[in-house]
Amino acid sequence: MKKYKSVAVLGTQWGDEGKGKITNLLALEADYVVRYQGGNNAGHSISINGKRFALHLLPSGVLNEGVKNVIANGVVVDLEGLLKEINYVKEAINVDRVNLLISDRAHIVLPYHKIIDALQEDNKGVRKIGTTKKGIGPAYADKVSREGIRIADLYDETLFKSLLKENVKSKNELIKLYGGSERVSFTKLYNQLMEYREEIRDYVVDTSKLIFDELNSGKKVLFEGAQGVLLDIEHGTYPFVTSSSPSSSSIPVNVGIPTYMISNSIGIVKAYSTRVGTGGFPTEIDDDISKYIREKGNEFGTTTGRPRRVGWFDSVLVRHAARVSGLTHISLTLLDVLSGLDKVKIATHYELDGKKVDTILAGETDFNNSKPVYVEIDGWKEDITNVKSYKQLPKNAKEYIKLIEKYTGVKVYQFSVGPNRDQTVTLGKKIF
Ligand code: IMP
Repeated sequence: MKKYKSVAVLGTQWGDEGKGKITNLLALEADYVVRYQGGNNAGHSISINGKRFALHLLPSGVLNEGVKNVIANGVVVDLEGLLKEINYVKEAINVDRVNLLISDRAHIVLPYHKIIDALQEDNKGVRKIGTTKKGIGPAYADKVSREGIRIADLYDETLFKSLLKENVKSKNELIKLYGGSERVSFTKLYNQLMEYREEIRDYVVDTSKLIFDELNSGKKVLFEGAQGVLLDIEHGTYPFVTSSSPSSSSIPVNVGIPTYMISNSIGIVKAYSTRVGTGGFPTEIDDDISKYIREKGNEFGTTTGRPRRVGWFDSVLVRHAARVSGLTHISLTLLDVLSGLDKVKIATHYELDGKKVDTILAGETDFNNSKPVYVEIDGWKEDITNVKSYKQLPKNAKEYIKLIEKYTGVKVYQFSVGPNRDQTVTLGKKIF
């Protein structure tokens, strides 16, 4: 069977694993970077030559010269956010046009989705999720209930006008039902969208056909996941998840290509665990160590600024991600953040009611009550931010990597010791 030059890069925990930097680095060799799910709820930060860039919706290859970037059908697109980000990138890298293509089948996020997202959160009891309030859940809900508006619909003026009119009417009713005081004006929104559609017109294509053809002709394609497997609507810690599927198993559907075209799957694995929003977190810690890690790792949300919850590395979670996403490689990030700790711990499995548990249990309460069982080793004191090879790592850091490989069952292909691209050490042979 033909081997396609494709690699999926995805988060294996609850997001914020440092995907932006790794994707951007791998994108140096790619012809295409394709975002396949989520929207501007994501926050990817990338440092190039000491300068930090924050991206939300645009694929992480937009800052690299010569790489084509694609927003595929599985993404939900907030046009206002998209256009702002396009301008931000144009200024940042001093170009007239960003190298971008957008699927004509992608759904759009509209102002009423954001209002409803916030109201739904305010009205929730035990299932308050702590969403980013970017309208992601309501936009995907419209998509599956077949009330959504796609990019292609913007160019079918008669249909679009009635679609938007119906939607604005029903959404204003819903807002009222939730007790919200805001109302969306059809005329204002319609006029705004008519302007936006002209601004994006040149970017819009059938991206499914494009990627299929390009892979067939030998082009190198990188699929960029947002969030992480544990936030996956299907395979995450439901209901405290996002509304799309970051797992690489979703790429064929979200991009419109056959499953056999995905050759490699790199799981981005943070050297410890973090989570934003609510939901179970077996290895969570709240003490001087978590404070140390939060400050040192700058564990504050890129999109919301919220402090992230912090915990020890949990191999149960990463084994789960490896299974549902078929990980072929691990890229281990933020290893430098652990320098200076006396001891470091890895959860190997859980215990629940005296029994060993080595998977994520589906029941919310069972998962919340799963108690981690750890292996503990001595930490390392050395600053490793200038390490350029595996050999240069302190002995205990090497042991830590070996334990991660042992308990996740996946080889560490790369490790990262700082925010810059050149603070990444690659161990295996080139992926493309
Ligand atoms: P939503 O995606 O805004 O609906 O939020 C659902 C859950 O996913 C919340 O717990 C968010 O904090 C989380 N989430 C969404 N995007 C990200 C991300 O890029 N990183 C980490 N968590 C995220």
